[in-house]
Amino acid sequence: MTYEQVTEATAALSLKPQALKRQPLKRNFSLDKLYPSFKVQPHIGTEFAKEVKIRDLLNAPNTDELFLDLAVLIAERNVAFFRDQDLTWDEQKEFADRLGRASGKPPTSGLHSHPISESSDEFGDKNYAINSELGKKFAKLRDEVRTELHSSAWHSDVTFEVVTPDYTVLRLRELPPEGGDTLWASAFELYERLSPAFAAFLEGLTATHTGDGFIALNKAGLVSINPGPRGAPEDVGTHLSTSHPVIRTNPITGWKGVFVNHGFTRRINELSKDESDAVLKHLFNLYTQNHDLQVRFKWNKHDVAVWDNRSSVHAATRDFEDHWTRVGERSASLGEAPYFDPASTSRRQALGIPPPPARRAHLASLADK
Ligand SMILES: [Fe+2]
Repeated sequence: MTYEQVTEATAALSLKPQALKRQPLKRNFSLDKLYPSFKVQPHIGTEFAKEVKIRDLLNAPNTDELFLDLAVLIAERNVAFFRDQDLTWDEQKEFADRLGRASGKPPTSGLHSHPISESSDEFGDKNYAINSELGKKFAKLRDEVRTELHSSAWHSDVTFEVVTPDYTVLRLRELPPEGGDTLWASAFELYERLSPAFAAFLEGLTATHTGDGFIALNKAGLVSINPGPRGAPEDVGTHLSTSHPVIRTNPITGWKGVFVNHGFTRRINELSKDESDAVLKHLFNLYTQNHDLQVRFKWNKHDVAVWDNRSSVHAATRDFEDHWTRVGERSASLGEAPYFDPASTSRRQALGIPPPPARRAHLASLADK
């Protein structure tokens, strides 16, 4: 079955083409000559050569051109890795914010202040500390409300906020000698695993995202919740709950992704609880059980990962906590409130890539009818 036949079959089940609300951005490829990179996996993840330094990008004569190219590259590839970066905390914050600004985020969206981060912290309230010792302190409470499956760790950052991060930057400065890898999965590729009829069904739906783990920690007296604004005027209050579309359009690529995650998505609003539980479980299973849409990163000290939080989920691996600690800082640029544009397309459709092998027989059967 050709890609064109699949596209025709898919189009017959979906909406007619319309103009996009926002025109996608294209790469200008200004990075490629001086800042080489390679694809880590076919569908997700790009790693820059180890001599590439973020500080050089920040100070280059054509820095605006480079940041635009990098913002589009990360949006298309979901996550990028930079090895051994000697970055100050101020440079890390600037790096995150400039990616969002270069790609046209709303002027009112700044850097996120995590609801449980403290302004008295060494790095201030624009930081979210990744500290496994802190994690262990909270573990008992967290485990009371979670499954024992390690896959429960998959999430997108702070999707209980009205305005969610576009780009998140994490640098680790204290590492275990083994373990502690982070995995990312592509929401674009997850969308490709839906039948056309199921995708069309999901495109009309919204889901409630709640930071109930942080609310429970607050009730237990372990943390206080910053009522905001937490980096954008929309991100206020201590309820830590909002609704987002289940299928989200990435404004940079114009591609559709599935915007639900284990960490914070609690209910598809238009469905009964039983229906919602069944659909969410299926969607979560699609990204944990398809390892061809994942990339796994083994950290070295001072490595930096930067991901497009709109169209990916990620999970840390807690396989070291009995013996070692893992410490770093996360800075997150806030983007736009998530939206679904019916005129957007799937990634494979836009790039002319045939559907995933496991879907082809089903799509071929639709084309034959
Ligand atoms: Fe995270």
